[in-house]
Amino acid sequence: MEFIGRNMKIKENIYMLECTRKKVLYHGRECDSMVYAVLEPDGVSLIDSGFPPFSYDILEEIRLLGQHRLPLKQILLTHADLDHIGNAAWLQEKTGCTVWISRLEKDYLTGERERLPNKQKMCEEFHLQLPHIEFYPDSSAVGEFQILDTPGHSAGHVCLLYRQVLFGGDLFSISGGVFSGANPEWTEDPVLAGQSLERLRSLKFTMLCPGHGIPDKRRNYL
Ligand SMILES: [Fe+2]
Repeated sequence: MEFIGRNMKIKENIYMLECTRKKVLYHGRECDSMVYAVLEPDGVSLIDSGFPPFSYDILEEIRLLGQHRLPLKQILLTHADLDHIGNAAWLQEKTGCTVWISRLEKDYLTGERERLPNKQKMCEEFHLQLPHIEFYPDSSAVGEFQILDTPGHSAGHVCLLYRQVLFGGDLFSISGGVFSGANPEWTEDPVLAGQSLERLRSLKFTMLCPGHGIPDKRRNYL
């Protein structure tokens, strides 16, 4: 895997931000949550926004990647869990970027739908700040990003497909070369998540970028 600065290069204009590999200690557990940056001529898109301690580092890393020429255009969220939405409000306040999420995930933010107790606790302990949100359009596409409904981990979880790179959020993880489906401890409906995962098999992609773990070639994982 190639690195530009400290950031892992996935493809020509796609990077995993190094600062999001740092671990957050949460009730004795080491946790991380990867943020990916896609550089296009009119700006940078982030896939998810990571744990709150890394907001400043994320902004610095995307400025360096874009050589300070590319603005942060948008954040495309896979779902509303704290470790994915955690820096969105801060980044939006600093840059004015658009934050996208699915309609069903909004209900967790407004309280119309209850999160799993462990997820709710994490939001409260990290003092989750809410960004202004836009809903993914009915066309299921934002620019070149294809938005794939993949419910199960949460009601409105989505994966994103961009130039044959699949961003999986929490639908799967890859750790030490081992592929796993959605972690049942943090998943609302593991059976539904498994069905969502199965549906991805028919899609054409070459790289997998999980929300937790390290990106890898598709190989036989899925
Ligand atoms: Fe999650």
